Amino acid sequence: MHTRNTGHVELARAQQERWDSAYAGRPQLHSAEPSAAVRRAAELFGAAGIDDVLELGSGHGRDALFLAGQGFSVHATDFSETALDQLRHAAQREGLDDRVTAALHDVRDPLPPADATVNAVFANLLLNMAFSPSELRSLVGEVHRVLRPGGLFVYAVWSTDDPCSQNWQRLSDGLSVHDGFVGRFFGEDLISELAEQWQLDELTPYQEGQRLLWQVALTKQ
Ligand SMILES: C[S@@+](CC[C@H](N)C(=O)[O-])C[C@H]1O[C@@H](n2cnc3c(N)ncnc32)[C@H](O)[C@@H]1O
Repeated sequence: MHTRNTGHVELARAQQERWDSAYAGRPQLHSAEPSAAVRRAAELFGAAGIDDVLELGSGHGRDALFLAGQGFSVHATDFSETALDQLRHAAQREGLDDRVTAALHDVRDPLPPADATVNAVFANLLLNMAFSPSELRSLVGEVHRVLRPGGLFVYAVWSTDDPCSQNWQRLSDGLSVHDGFVGRFFGEDLISELAEQWQLDELTPYQEGQRLLWQVALTKQ
């Protein structure tokens, strides 16, 4: 049974509004360019013979559209309806709407799929959002629950080595805030801890723009 830490409910609501207004104020907030992590994810999913992907925290869908363009079927979710509308319109415009669906979902709630029914989950820069440590563990546990054995989970998160983290103001619980956005910088120890019930296939530091990030690939055993 999933329970929410009530101390974080207000924070989460404020973050949802922050993201929604950011997307409303600036469509294509993250640009149309696919992330480095999704390019790697597409290679890993393709090599495993996977052709359908559940994306969490998709935003306006630059990565969902990339995956669809590569021939994958993508179910994209986010807690910003504004971002999802932008994704739906872009998918229609690009003629990819037969391969992309988009649904509102807050990942602090249980994931909708039944146990062991999903082949691949992708999440670029979602796990580093405003989650308490227990919400983070529950989320990774939910991804594990919905994946079939042998299923893949590829994600990317901000690194504690990122010099930008110095400009963020520390909050409690390992979270930080900048310009109204709350997030967490990940060390290797946290990634290893979250990978405890998984096979850790890749843990790769990389740079994208000014940010230092981790790309992580896990297999459900
Ligand atoms: C840094 S953005 C990354 C967006 C997208 N993955 C990309 O790379 O373009 C983080 C995304 O996570 C979403 N998000 C944050 N907290 C969430 C939550 N609790 N449930 C679902 N989505 C959430 C935000 O709305 C935002 O779209």
